[in-house]
Amino acid sequence: MRVPSHSINVRLLYVSRAVGPQTTTMTTSILAQAQAHNAVQGITGVLCQGQGFFFQVIEGERSRVNALYRRISADNRHQDVEILHYEEIHERRFGQWSMALVHLSVDDPMVKLQHPDFDPYSASGPQVMQQVLDLLESGQPIRMPAA
Ligand SMILES: Cc1cc2nc3c(=O)[nH]c(=O)nc-3n(C[C@H](O)[C@H](O)[C@H](O)COP(=O)(O)O)c2cc1C
Repeated sequence: MRVPSHSINVRLLYVSRAVGPQTTTMTTSILAQAQAHNAVQGITGVLCQGQGFFFQVIEGERSRVNALYRRISADNRHQDVEILHYEEIHERRFGQWSMALVHLSVDDPMVKLQHPDFDPYSASGPQVMQQVLDLLESGQPIRMPAA
């Protein structure tokens, strides 16, 4: 998707640790909130979850992405929320989805690569971003269409 030249758009990637088990109920509730808000705000992205972690990429107009990040980072369903990557963009990578969902399992390359000490907090931002993209292509994401 082309980004209009009059607005500054950014892509943000963070990692966090889930508080409690990552149940289907929790995921369903997060995705419902994401779908309701993100489409209206012109936000697109992908949420990867599993192994006790969340990785989320959020793209859109800078102030909207920043505001959403503040809201998400205050959510008590996760903790240790840390930005791994933040960049200005001219084109979206996840423009088709208000929030795609990818499950992270022990067999995923992202986990394997770091095995046995899988620690996304010590990985480089661009590297994790690439792994999220790979995961989205190789996995079977549940894709929520953008508005
Ligand atoms: C890992 C994670 C990802 C989330 N992603 C989004 C998102 O992309 N968009 C969104 O609006 N809310 C997201 N949320 C939920 C927000 O933190 C917040 O609970 C919600 O936006 C508040 O919605 P409400 O005002 O309808 O209660 C996420 C929460 C978690 C824990």
